[in-house]
Amino acid sequence: MSNESKDRERLSELVDNLSRADDVKLNRRAFIKSTFGAGIALGLATIPFNIAAFVRSEPRTDRQFITTVEALERGKSLEFEYPGTEPSLLVHLKNGEFVAYNNKCTHLQCPVFYVEEEDVLLCPCHRGYFGVDGQPQAGPPQRELPKILLEIENGKIFAVGREIHHGA
Ligand code: FES
Repeated sequence: MSNESKDRERLSELVDNLSRADDVKLNRRAFIKSTFGAGIALGLATIPFNIAAFVRSEPRTDRQFITTVEALERGKSLEFEYPGTEPSLLVHLKNGEFVAYNNKCTHLQCPVFYVEEEDVLLCPCHRGYFGVDGQPQAGPPQRELPKILLEIENGKIFAVGREIHHGA
């Protein structure tokens, strides 16, 4: 028997040993493995973009004077525009801290107001409530208010950037 015919015979034995059921099982397993691997690879590759989409800080190029510490009593708020003409709200909390947010409600963009008695930010359009940390508390809003980053220097309060979460 020639070498060529021996090879052909061995090949034919190999093919006969493979049952169709085994072949399908092996192909399914290979498909699941490669799909799972591709899913993990794709997930890992998009992590940096997911983090960037979750918290987006705008560059701190716009430093804008808002008011002085003395001018805004505890429990009071002040509307201002930042960045550009974006409506924003500075709040002097009862504990003495200052916080500021973009004051367009994250539901349907109505203006949000500070309610001193309840120490919350209220959107009167559909009674949406936000905590003074900017997080939605009750009503339709699901996303937090974009936060205005503040700096206080020599008794002057400046807006120095904005932090947007969840693409709000
Ligand atoms: S627009 Fe603010 S709750 Fe609807």
